[in-house]
Amino acid sequence: MGAIVPSGKALARAIVAHAQISEGQVVVELGAGSGSFTRELLAQNPKISLTVFEMSVDLAAGLRRDFPRAQVVALPAEDLPKVAAALGILRIDRVVGGLPWALWGESRQAAVLDAIVPFLTPQARMVTFHYVHSRSLGRVATTRRLLQERFEQVTYSEPVWANVPPAFVHISQGVKIRG
Ligand SMILES: C[S@@+](CC[C@H](N)C(=O)[O-])C[C@H]1O[C@@H](n2cnc3c(N)ncnc32)[C@H](O)[C@@H]1O
Repeated sequence: MGAIVPSGKALARAIVAHAQISEGQVVVELGAGSGSFTRELLAQNPKISLTVFEMSVDLAAGLRRDFPRAQVVALPAEDLPKVAAALGILRIDRVVGGLPWALWGESRQAAVLDAIVPFLTPQARMVTFHYVHSRSLGRVATTRRLLQERFEQVTYSEPVWANVPPAFVHISQGVKIRG
């Protein structure tokens, strides 16, 4: 699944802090695993609409049990356009990503982004993470370039050293209008 161990509280807090979520927003989480980010998202933002895409049927079942407030979908994130209307998703304000970007080649990363980005509001923010050690694999640079092609502003947080392994948050905002 790409994670060495589920993300810790420090990374979950950093992810949620950088997402800058407001009451009433439509939030979509991608690749929730056992729910480290989901737990923090809902604890800090009880009044959001949260839909979680987790492609593992077993993990999705656990998320449904642990987070009845969230709408949990056991499908790959790439399928969002096919099911958005049925899920009541017309627009997305915040995307919180736990997907294993660094394990994927460019075409898969682009396919996920191109499924999500058309739903984003102009002020939307997308936050995701990479492990510090995965920078040397070169795929962080690929993810960053793909994000920069789609967002006006793409920045990194300081590393969250308390996470095992240490990770940093990628923050993207300002969706580019694409012709
Ligand atoms: C790196 S783990 C992260 C889990 C959790 N967010 C965390 O940080 O502890 C990645 C998760 O993404 C899920 N996943 C992988 N590809 C996916 C996809 N295309 N759509 C939705 N979920 C996916 C995996 O099943 C796994 O649970």
